[in-house]
Amino acid sequence: MNINNVAFERSFGISSQLPPSSLPEIAFAGRSNVGKSSLLNKLFNRKSLAKVSQTPGKTATINFFSCDGVRFVDLPGYGYAKVSKAEKGRWAELIEGYFNQERNLALVVSLVDIRHAASDLDENMIAFLQDAQLPYAVALTKADKLSRQQQIKQKAALKRQLALDEDVPLVVCSSEKGDGIDELRALIGAAARG
Ligand code: GTP
Ligand code: MG
Repeated sequence: MNINNVAFERSFGISSQLPPSSLPEIAFAGRSNVGKSSLLNKLFNRKSLAKVSQTPGKTATINFFSCDGVRFVDLPGYGYAKVSKAEKGRWAELIEGYFNQERNLALVVSLVDIRHAASDLDENMIAFLQDAQLPYAVALTKADKLSRQQQIKQKAALKRQLALDEDVPLVVCSSEKGDGIDELRALIGAAARG
């Protein structure tokens, strides 16, 4: 996959608009502000392919990008308290609607902030991926905010909390500094090739 060939495809505001999967998909899921859009940008070495904001709730639609026959899916975040009930419901509809469809999922990258314990919603997300036997990896984001020693400690704590199997890749990432990016690219490449 040549990362320079990435292109924005389309945004969707309601899950029934989503076209069937015509390509293997790599989806990015996680709570609001965890760094999904930033990670996508970093993977493609682009500043503003996906929109990033300090304010949680930036990505309010499902956004498709494609690169050499693989589709990348930037999902809205879950768990942001400070939006209206209607908006929360719309995001939940999008996320659940996406995962409840028969998508051709090559890999779900489930993002969790390395600084904190996983939230109930993070636990639910990962339990769902596990139960549905979907291929997934966990990206621990914002590693640049911790020392190397704290990163090791948090990685072990989160692995325990999320009860991750040995074979689930757990990647310490920083979209600021680039940690974990090559490892994620390799996982994505292997998943996309099947
Ligand atoms: P929603 O679209 O609202 O769900 O958020 P998101 O998960 O897409 O997060 P986004 O990429 O918009 O990033 C949220 C904030 O975190 C921004 O201010 C980013 O600059 C910051 N951020 C993301 N990744 C990192 C990282 O690796 N390190 C640091 N220090 N900040 C990060
Ligand atoms: Mg986003």
